[in-house]
Amino acid sequence: MPAVLVAPSILAADFSHLETEIHRAEEAGADWLHLDIMDGHFVDNISFGPAVVATVRKHTRLLLDVHLMIEHPDHYLPRFLEAGANSITVHVEAEAKHDVAQTLAAIRAAGCGVGLTLNPATPFEAVAPYLGTIDLLLIMTVHPGFGGQVFRPEMMDKVRRARQWREANGGKLHIEVDGGIKPETAGTSIENGANILVAGTSIFRAPDYAAAIRELRGE
Ligand code: DX5
Ligand code: ZN
Repeated sequence: MPAVLVAPSILAADFSHLETEIHRAEEAGADWLHLDIMDGHFVDNISFGPAVVATVRKHTRLLLDVHLMIEHPDHYLPRFLEAGANSITVHVEAEAKHDVAQTLAAIRAAGCGVGLTLNPATPFEAVAPYLGTIDLLLIMTVHPGFGGQVFRPEMMDKVRRARQWREANGGKLHIEVDGGIKPETAGTSIENGANILVAGTSIFRAPDYAAAIRELRGE
């Protein structure tokens, strides 16, 4: 199984001190930074766009893991690539209003990491046809739109199915979980096959970011 990586979600960071928060997370041992893009249509919230991604890009060399919770991600792809995204994850649901295969191919053609994700209510079968074309499968453990929600343990069935696929197909697929990830739910996710942990609240609301990241890793 690939090494366990921790990707703090800056949605939970203090935006009035974003540069400081980025440096604190990096010094605390973050492996990637997770950037949650919300358009108020695909999800019932609005977060930030390419301009903030470009700002974050200026202050860190960490891999920027951009999670597009938006309609028409294909249309906005060039702007997130230009802003400095290193990996871009799009939603498989029809409500995202794009041709999934075409969008994944466009991300690949741009030399960017390719991610696909599904909501808790979406069956694993929806992503199965694409697994051979992606670098990362993000299994949402909450319904997207807000940080601070409660982890949904029934999503571990999907993590186990992703692990089975990874073990049968070269062992390289990143399996990422996102939503309600804290030390105990991180442990459960790792046990079931996840190797990338997205965490917002459990890191940015912690007094000690390094301790929070270590605890997520189970150290
Ligand atoms: C929710 C986002 C998650 C969220 C995680 O739509 O995709 O990345 O920020 O936040 P926590 O870790 O607080 O559940
Ligand atoms: Zn996310």
